Order: sequence, then structure tokens, then C-alpha cells
Amino acid sequence: MILVLDFGSQYNQLITRRIREHGVYSELHSHRITVEKVKEMNPKGIILSGGPHSVYDATSFRCDPAIFELGVPVLGICYGMQLMALHYGGEVSGTTNREYGKAEINLNQISDVFAGTPESQTVWMSHGDKVIQPPENFTTDATSPSTPIAAMSDANRGLYGVQFHPEVRHSEYGHRVLRNFVYDVCGCEGDWTIENFIEMEVANIRQQVGDRKVLCALSGGVDSSVVAALIHKAIGKQLTCIFVDHGLLRKNEAEEVTATFQDDFDMNFIKIDAADRFLSKLKGVDDPEQKRKIIGNEFIYVFDDEADKIKDIDFLAQGTLYTDVIESGTETAQTIKSHHNVGGLPEDMQFDLIEPLNTLFKDEVRELGLQLGLRENIVWRQPFPGPGLAIRVLGEVTEEKLKIVRESDAILREEIAAAGLERDIWQYFTVLPDIRSVGVMGDARTYDYTIGIRAVTSIDGMTSDWARIPWDVLEKISTRLVNDVEHINRVVYDVTSKPPATIEWE
Ligand code: XMP
Repeated sequence: MILVLDFGSQYNQLITRRIREHGVYSELHSHRITVEKVKEMNPKGIILSGGPHSVYDATSFRCDPAIFELGVPVLGICYGMQLMALHYGGEVSGTTNREYGKAEINLNQISDVFAGTPESQTVWMSHGDKVIQPPENFTTDATSPSTPIAAMSDANRGLYGVQFHPEVRHSEYGHRVLRNFVYDVCGCEGDWTIENFIEMEVANIRQQVGDRKVLCALSGGVDSSVVAALIHKAIGKQLTCIFVDHGLLRKNEAEEVTATFQDDFDMNFIKIDAADRFLSKLKGVDDPEQKRKIIGNEFIYVFDDEADKIKDIDFLAQGTLYTDVIESGTETAQTIKSHHNVGGLPEDMQFDLIEPLNTLFKDEVRELGLQLGLRENIVWRQPFPGPGLAIRVLGEVTEEKLKIVRESDAILREEIAAAGLERDIWQYFTVLPDIRSVGVMGDARTYDYTIGIRAVTSIDGMTSDWARIPWDVLEKISTRLVNDVEHINRVVYDVTSKPPATIEWE
């Protein structure tokens, strides 16, 4: 296991992911972790991440200095290298001149972490401060025109520092540097694979659950689907899945989820048709936050009612991911939208939680899903908000408007798939603003709805850019939307990024 200490770099999660790509298990923890806890975790190596501070700031992040004395190899990246330099008596210069972007470094010697990489290589730099005097017994391993000490090491003590970011793809040999550190310096073996994860987790779940029962709220999204498939593999019919169809799903979605879990997996699967219940609660409501709250609450009531009918449930399964674990507690206080995940559940339920994905990243969860035999369309499903189409019909939700947005969304999805763009665009859907405008069709005047297309590229949904869909694809989509969906006479394309807009319109 490789422990990554987080000093606030925007790339902190990326380091952990890259290490895992080498088949080595890695966890990201706060720099505040105690040395006792580190000892308990028994890592084979420690990586100190970059960070936004200067080591000389009064409030800069530090770690327990005893961590350096554990005799475990350490790789300091950027701020992490500066911290290491300072700890061992080197000197760091605080400057306000940032070096940002690609740079060329030259190796003075091939230290262990640079084994197999060329003397001159491109790296990604993002720093203000730099080490100007390495600590005693450290050698300067690389230099760049503006950073005389771009890498340093004390191989005898297993200490390495790089000023650049090996975790960023622009660092040509960064992948190799990380690999060298975890394999050659730390002696890791690369035995962390999804197959091993399944084996280990199935055993854990069996042990945790014994002969008791587990309940899972399926939304049909990737995370809850993979959780259900994994737990089902471990305990079969001791798992019951509840799927609430709130009538706000996309075209054929309920059928696909039912086919997957009832037919492919033969699970205890309960589908609740609650469309009338949700739609009647939404009648006359046009405020977005109000709509979200109604749907969130109603989901809990429906789920609660059903869970009450099933006796002797001890555990509740949830699709919490590693990113949720890492990010919990760091969210800013302001509520932009009250997100509600239909996989999220009432807090006062008297169950123990099972969260078998809480050490995995999204791409790992997808791979796990495929290996567990889930259909590709479930594993590669784009994110879909808990409140569903209700927040894509702006203003009051009516059956007629839901139909327009559902049909247009299906056409958009078909055309994006036909153009082979499915995996390039992070999320794409249609929205129905409450706007009518004048058009002309077959020589007759129309006065009908405008439909908006929203398509974005993103990594995690926190920020996004609008997708550059080729004009001819947009043209085809536009023609089909107007021809095939009743009550649409105009199509617009949303070209705002997030921020300042959000991905969904409500
Ligand atoms: P926004 O609109 O906030 O969306 O930029 C960011 C991502 O989150 C999804 N989203 C939700 N997901 N429950 C969810 O599970 C929600 O209430 C919700 N609202 C937005 C949105 O689709 C996008 O992927």
C-alpha cells in the first residue's frame, strides 16, 4: 500500500489513481494523519502531494515530522519536495514568480526513480517556491533552466523529491517515475487488480453479513448497479433491491433496469411504480428547489413504505465512491442546488451500512461492473440526476412536457451514439424551457416549444465545458427533433460552461 498525503494540490487524487494504474493499492489521506495511524496502515511508501501554499506561510500545511522518521521511502512532489527539503535542513526560496506549464529537465544522474528515462525530458511544472539548497547527503538529480534543483534524492534513506508533477500526463516519463518509486524503491508487487478486489470484497461481504439480509436502493445508475451486482455475487438471494420508478426516468430506462436485474441476475428485485404519487405532488409547483425537495422527500416516503414490508433487514447497501469519501467535509457551505441522489436514503433508518465501493474511483467501478457481467449500457450510463426529467422540464412538470423531453432525449442519445460520440461527451440531454415561439411548418404558422440541447465535457461534474459537437451531427439532431417530436418547432444549443452556468438547467 502506498499512502499519499494530501497537502491540497489540485492533482492529489490523480496521484492515487496513477499508483493504482500500476496495480498497487493506494490511499489519499489528509496531511493531518498521525504517525500512529500511519504505522497502523503500514504503507510500503509515502508520497507527499503538492499544495497551494508556501512552506513559509504561517498557515501552511505540515505533516507530523515523525512520519519522516519511520524508515519508509518517501517521494515528495512539488510542495512535498520542498517540505522534505526543509525537514532535512535544506533551503527553500519563496518567490512570487510562478513557473507553470511544460518545462525541460536534464538529469545529472539517473537516480532510482528516473531509471529507464532519458537524460532530457519534458515535465509539468506548477510552482512558485523552489528548493535552492538540498539537505545534507542529498544529491541534485535534475535541473531545468528556471529550477536548478528540479529533483533530489538521498537514496540511502529512500528519500526522493521532484519539483514537477509526475502524475500529470504532460510529464512525459511521470508514469515511469511513479512506477520506479513504487516498484523499485518501495518493493510493491502490482497485485492490486479488479479480479483480486472482487475476490477480497466478496469474502468481506460474506463475513460481514453472515446469514442476514441486505437491502439496496437501485437507481439504475452505475454506482448502485455495481453495488447490487457485487453484493449479489457474494450473498445471492439474501440481497433485495428496490427500484422506485418515479415517472421521471428517461425513455425505456425502467425496462432496462428491470431486464438487467431481474433477467440477467435473477435478483430479488422489487419495482415500485410511483409515477402518479410523484406527479400529483409536483402539480402546480414551478420553483426548482421546491421540486427537488418534493422529489427527495417523496422518494424517502416511498422507499420507507416498501422497506417496512420486508422483514428482518439488517444492512443497507450504498454506492458511496472513494471520491465521496475524500471530498466529504470539504464542500463549500453555499448550496447551489440541493442535490438529491435517489440512491441516497433516509438518515434515520435503523440499518448498518455496507459500502463496498468506498475505496474505488469511478473508472474502477466501471471496470468492476463489466467484470461482474453488467450490461455495457448500464456501466457506461451517463450521470443522471436523482430528480430525473423533472429538473429538465423548467417550471411546472406536466405529462405533456415530460413526454417532449423524454422523446427528444431519446433522439439525442440515438444520434450521439450513431455519431460515435458517446464516450467523448460526459453528459448530454435535452431541456424544455417554458418558451414558445413562432415557426412555420408546411406553409402553416406554428406556435410551439423550443427545446435546448445540453452537452458537456467534464471529469467529475464539478466544472464542465460545452461539447463541440460537429455541425453536421447537430444539424441531424435538430431536424429529427423538430420532425419527430410533437410540439417542438425550434432547437437551441447551450454554449455555456460551468461555471458560470451549471450542467442541469434547474
Ligand atoms: P449541476 O447541474 O449541479 O450538476 O452542474 C452536476 C452533476 O450532478 C448531476 N446532478 C444531480 N445528481 N442528484 C444527483 O444524483 C441531483 O439532485 C442532481 N442534480 C444534478 C448533474 O446531472 C450533473 O451530472
